[in-house]
This record gives sequence, C-alpha cells and structure tokens, in this order.
Amino acid sequence: MKTLKGKPAAGLHGELVVPGDKSISHRGIMFGAISEGQTTLTHFLTSADCLSTLNAFKQLGVPIEREGTTVKIQGVGLHGLKASDQPLDMGNSGTTTRLIMGLLAGQPFDSTLIGDASLSKRPMKRVSVPLAQMGAKIDTTDGHLPVTVKGTKLHAVNYQLKVASAQVKSALILAALQAETPSTLIEQLPTRDHTERILTAFGADVQTADDGVTITVQPQPHMTGQTMTVPGDMSSAAFFMVAASLVPGSKITLKDVGLNKTRTGLLEILQQMGGKVTINTTPTDGEPIGDLIIEATDLKPIEIGKEQIPAVIDELPLVALLAAKANGVSKVTGAEELRVKETDRISAIVQEFKKLGIAIEELPDGFVIDGRQPWHVTDTALDAHDDHRIGMVLGVAALLVDTPLTLKGAESVGISYPEFFDDLDQLL
Ligand code: S3P
Repeated sequence: MKTLKGKPAAGLHGELVVPGDKSISHRGIMFGAISEGQTTLTHFLTSADCLSTLNAFKQLGVPIEREGTTVKIQGVGLHGLKASDQPLDMGNSGTTTRLIMGLLAGQPFDSTLIGDASLSKRPMKRVSVPLAQMGAKIDTTDGHLPVTVKGTKLHAVNYQLKVASAQVKSALILAALQAETPSTLIEQLPTRDHTERILTAFGADVQTADDGVTITVQPQPHMTGQTMTVPGDMSSAAFFMVAASLVPGSKITLKDVGLNKTRTGLLEILQQMGGKVTINTTPTDGEPIGDLIIEATDLKPIEIGKEQIPAVIDELPLVALLAAKANGVSKVTGAEELRVKETDRISAIVQEFKKLGIAIEELPDGFVIDGRQPWHVTDTALDAHDDHRIGMVLGVAALLVDTPLTLKGAESVGISYPEFFDDLDQLL
C-alpha cells in the first residue's frame, strides 16, 4: 500500500524528460529483429511491457543487448527467427501479444504464448480471426491466452477492420509482409501509425492512401537495421500535463515528447478545454517531437465522441480527471474499448472517482462528469486495479485533495513508467 502525496504547497514546477514511448519501443525491437544488420535504439523504454518484447525476441533467437536505455539488436531478417522451446511469456503486454501473433503466424515453426492474469482475460480473437483469413492457424483458449500459433504460409488479404485498433492493424501488417502478393487493410478510423512509419524507415513498402484509412502492404521486403532515438511517451507526459493544468500555481516543461498526430488527442482536448499549453516543436527526420510548457488554469467542460477516441485512447482516464475539475458537465462516448484494456477502465474510473466524491455517471461506452460538484473523500483507500494507467491517474488525483490517500497496487506503474512516482516528486 503506497501513501500518496497530497496537495503541493506551490504547484508543480520544473523540467522533465519523460521515458521513451512504449508503442515505439516495442516496435523498435520487433522490426529491428526482422531486419538485417544492427538496429540501435536509444531512450528505449525499460518498463515491464517493453522488456516482455525484448525477452520474447531473445527467446526467438535474436541477439539483443541492453545497457540502460540503449538497446542493440542484431537483426536476423524476416526468415531468421528460431522456434522457442519454452512458451513465450507476454507478461501484461497486449501490444507484444497481438503484434507477435501476426509475425509468428507466417513463420515455419510453432509457438505458444502465455501471459499474466489480466492479459489472459483480454480478447485475442480480434487478431486470430482476421489472421485466419490469411491462412493462419491459431488456437486460442476460448478467445484468450494461452494461444498456440502453428506457423504456416500466409496469403494476402483485403480486410476491413472490425475494431479501431492499432494492435490489430499492426498484427495484420506483420502477417501481410510474409504473404506473396500485396494486402489491403481498411481501418474504421485512423489509429496510431507507428508500425507504418517505422517499417517504412526500415525499408518496407507500407502505404496509407489519402483517405487515411486504406493501407497497402507490399510483401517480402528486405529491411535494414536503423539507429533510432525513441521519443518521450506522450501517454506518460500526459499525467504531468494534467497535473500541472489542475494544481493551482503550476508551470512545468516536458522535453522531447512524441507529437505524432495519432497520439496527441489529449493535447488537443486540453487546449479545447482552455488549457494553457505552449508547444515548441523540434525538427526531426522521423516521428515528430517537441517541448511542452503547461501552466495551471481554469478549464471548460468538453464532449468527446467516437471519432476522437483513437488519438486519446490511453489518456481517457486523464480526460475524466480534467472533466472532474472543469466548470460544467463533460461527456465521453464511443469509448467501449476501455472495457477491454488492462482492466475495465470505465468501471475502474467510476469506482475510484466515487471514493473521491466526484459526480460521475457510468455509460456503457464512456462517462458523464459534473466538474462543478465539490469533491468530498468518502474512502481514502484507492485501488489501481492492477492497471498502470489507473494507478498513475489516481496518483495525480491525490494532488487535488487535502485528505491523505493510499493506493493499492501502485507497483503496476512499472508496466509503462517505473519511475513515475519519483518523477512526480521531482516536480513537487
Ligand atoms: C497500442 C495500441 C492501443 C493502445 C495500447 C498500445 C499499440 O491499443 O491502447 O496501449 O502500441 O499499438 P489498441 O490498438 O488495442 O487500441
């Protein structure tokens, strides 16, 4: 049980470099592994999830060395992976699991994937069913882990995605690389495009049409290892952006944060709510990055629907917190995907926010929050629900109340941000 820091006397102040992007760190390892030659990643995220990916690829015969946040991968090419004699442990990581399913489906060997209790409850048919249309032979356990992937030859597909999910899209792209003719994938809504960008940087031919949702994948690319600095994770920066916006007197600078448009939903929402944000972009060849300066201010309520969800999917618990301090009623809908994250995040937010006396109403696909109601703590024992992002949002919420609060499961922050509470302390 962790005791959370309460209201700081003078707000949050200072400058912070947040750890590397989780989505990009995963992909850096995976795409480095299936390229030829060395890939060097700097500012790699050394969190539990990304280490699940690193260890899985070591088990698949890829030489990988890590010193701190620098990782060197000796790529074995698209056809150089080796069978693992042990099951591959995906830990808590949905990204590792779903992307690796697409890759392993086309390999000439079988693999078994296992994971922790939370991951073992998450849906895997959203990947195995479309992969089956490409000839993949994947057995799930009632749609969940453990999963057995029987490697086989894959064929191209023309597929319309049923969920707006970058993980599903990426699994299909990795399978399509191993087919013999080009594949076309059509998304419901644009989702994070790191797979498309990074594969292209490594030499693959993955093109998105002007409509933003039609992706064509050319098969059998020869990809070459690259040197890549992983940008700061917008999804981690977001916790401090919200803390600094809400705690009176705050002013902070977040350095070198990834500003890929498919990830900046929270930044735009904060601006629409009247947040004080200055963005100083830095020119780069790869993923866009920049420094963010955030100051505390009063916020207006907001309504968010389906179309806006993918770019803010991981930050919706933070949108709830912004809404809980805005001067009106906010509403989020079209976010039913939150129910199948590391925990049911709609239910977790509603349960934990109610302990703080926040006026929140649960919807099947989102929530309604009246930020005008004063908070009054009714239960000081908060619970992270074994979910890193719920743990961190509650760590930020605690900065807004006078009553001392505790957090059960605070160690779950290690999934994406092991130093979260230390970094927060630095700004207090
Ligand atoms: C991720 C995609 C998102 C996101 C997750 C990381 C990725 O999941 O929630 O944290 O790296 O592709 P979905 O694609 O399932 O929405």
